[in-house]
Amino acid sequence: MEKDTVILAIESSCDETSAALVKNGREVLSNIISSQINIHKKFGGVVPEVASRKHIQNISGVIDLALSQGGLKLDDVDAIAVTYGPGLVGALLIGLTTAKALAYARKLPLIGVNHIEGHICANFIEHKELEPPFVCLVASGGHSHIVNVLGHGKYEIMGMTRDDAAGEAFDKIARALGLGYPGGPLVDKIAREGNPNAIDFPRAYLEEGSYDFSFSGIKSAVLNYLNSLSMKDLEPNIADVSASFQQAVVDVLSDKLIAAAEAKGSSYAVLAGGVAANSKLREELSNKGLKKGIKVLYPNPILCTDNAAMIGSAGYYKLLRGETSPMNLNAVPNLTL
Ligand code: KG4
Ligand code: ZN
Repeated sequence: MEKDTVILAIESSCDETSAALVKNGREVLSNIISSQINIHKKFGGVVPEVASRKHIQNISGVIDLALSQGGLKLDDVDAIAVTYGPGLVGALLIGLTTAKALAYARKLPLIGVNHIEGHICANFIEHKELEPPFVCLVASGGHSHIVNVLGHGKYEIMGMTRDDAAGEAFDKIARALGLGYPGGPLVDKIAREGNPNAIDFPRAYLEEGSYDFSFSGIKSAVLNYLNSLSMKDLEPNIADVSASFQQAVVDVLSDKLIAAAEAKGSSYAVLAGGVAANSKLREELSNKGLKKGIKVLYPNPILCTDNAAMIGSAGYYKLLRGETSPMNLNAVPNLTL
């Protein structure tokens, strides 16, 4: 039997300080997530400077907790994986510098991981039998990509957003409706009480056969709708606006993902990223997949939003491929897949 490989993974690209122990790329021994949401809520979004300072305060404790909850010591760890982009540069640097210090002191391989690749790999943790090829929609606060996953580490980008990311659109609409931050989960919740057909917001499918997205049109349409009501001194029905907005976004995301999976002859349509936690998206996609004979997969919500376990999974497959990083690895805020 081959020896187990345990990776200590660190994620600090935005407002979650996270550390995890992951065995053989798929088994999570611990996954500690210290969220700063309550701090950033007051400002209606993530304040980069504050995020960096909080990461500094939290990171050692989070790593200690990941080790103790996983029942292991640093001596048992085979490699250190860390997110080096995309993300907020100051935030990324805290995780990266910590990972480098640990790798250097313990003479362990350092593995820099792309955050978007991490989101995709969350599915390897959730679905033990899942292997590429499959088509994946990565939708979060910073990105909306349709990716053809050809093999571990082999990605073909089929489409991406031309303006706002899907999660960003949820966050902006939630702010306009006075729901708070982060918007996605709040819109998801209140939309359950609303009518998704109440307002016909536009769906941007773009050119025939395009897998790109655009969410700026629907964002403006919702803002215009709210403005026109306010000019008449009328109050919006927040549940109806939320449900109608969410339905329009979900229609486009799910139609494009299913079309992309069909185009590639993929038997799987897979979701990843924070927006993958959306209940309507999961439901709609599962129904559409069923009709086309395409299996729809998504991770548990805790593995959809930012976490270090997904970085540990991606790091494991990089280690297998011999893709370790040099000690002068820098943070790359706009890193692409
Ligand atoms: O992946 P993630 O945690 O961080 C980034 O890499 O950006 O994604 C966060 C985004 C936020 O925009 C948040 O509003 C959105 O994911 N989100 C959701 C839901 N849960 C989180 N959007 C829609 N429905 C949800 N249930
Ligand atoms: Zn993310």
